[in-house]
Amino acid sequence: MRKKVLVTGGAGYIGSHTVVELFNAGYQPIILDDFRNSDESVLDGISQIIGSKPELLRGDVCDTNLLSKFIKENEICGIIHFAAYKAVGESVEKPLNYYQNNLEGLVAVLKVVSMHPEITFVFSSSCTVYGEPFGQKEVTEKTERSIPTSPYGYTKWLGEQIINDVFNSNADLRLMSLRYFNPIGAHESAAIGELPIGKPNNLLPFITQTAAGLHDQLTIFGNDYPTIDGTCVRDYIHVVDLAEAHVKALDFLVKESKGCHEVVNIGTGKGSSVLEMVRAFEQVNQVKLNYEFGPKRAGDVIEIYANVDYAKELLAWQANKTITDAVRDAWNWEKLIRSIE
Ligand code: UFG
Repeated sequence: MRKKVLVTGGAGYIGSHTVVELFNAGYQPIILDDFRNSDESVLDGISQIIGSKPELLRGDVCDTNLLSKFIKENEICGIIHFAAYKAVGESVEKPLNYYQNNLEGLVAVLKVVSMHPEITFVFSSSCTVYGEPFGQKEVTEKTERSIPTSPYGYTKWLGEQIINDVFNSNADLRLMSLRYFNPIGAHESAAIGELPIGKPNNLLPFITQTAAGLHDQLTIFGNDYPTIDGTCVRDYIHVVDLAEAHVKALDFLVKESKGCHEVVNIGTGKGSSVLEMVRAFEQVNQVKLNYEFGPKRAGDVIEIYANVDYAKELLAWQANKTITDAVRDAWNWEKLIRSIE
């Protein structure tokens, strides 16, 4: 029988890809989502890939009654907690919404986990917790962190701290925080992908939307940074690789006999500049992209990429897909949703 896993925010970008990979690995994922930041059509996309509609618990992750009722009625082996707000700029404008939703949701889920130590827990953390990492480009989980550059970043930073404190109060719990670098791409079937609501903030969806004609041009934020070509460098990871890392994390925790709070970088270990991403997109897809250089964006880290040794050691996981795969899959997805031939 398939082991059940609750996936909060399972209708979102990373959540939906993780639901697919959990199913492929023999788990039974159950999505908890209220679709405030996603579209219900993602369920059809998932069912195109896995052959059936995933189970859905419709609701707010902060609703502790809903969670307790669900746990009473279902035997689950783990919770993967994605449901949270994630736009850096919006978090600066509406910090209280971010602190309330992201921290309240996490606390609600951790209360359930504390009462049911048999349930394992995986948290969506982010490389944003490193802040500007003191001039160090490749970061390990032990790299000294500077302060996050946004309220969103603080919610991830505090999230890890809260999980630590909960673990210190109950050392039997099996917990893991995954620090994602920059997820990009889409499922290779183009049945699911990223669906930003409104104007995208992130690079790849802005590139694909510009190529699709939704924006006149991409503005590259800054071209005189001390990097290979003057533009910022990030560790872009294919979303399907990232989804597989969650399966490995869950496999690890479910087998683990003693309590833990593991913190693991999930990236490729390789940095790419904004210009390199633009060129890769153009070359792979044979599409010309209109872009200009603009002023720097406040709060941007200059250069950061993951040291991925610990992910390999602990989870036997490493990224398999390339930037070429990611820009091709992202463009196929964009073309499909915009009905471009
Ligand atoms: N960029 C542009 N033009 C755009 C959009 C982005 O030049 O229109 C540049 C940015 O300046 C940056 C790079 O592309 O150099 C990547 O930017 P993203 O917004 O795609 O990603 P970030 O690295 O800023 O943010 C990501 C996640 C956050 C997370 C952060 C941690 O989206 O959730 O990494 O560093 F907090």
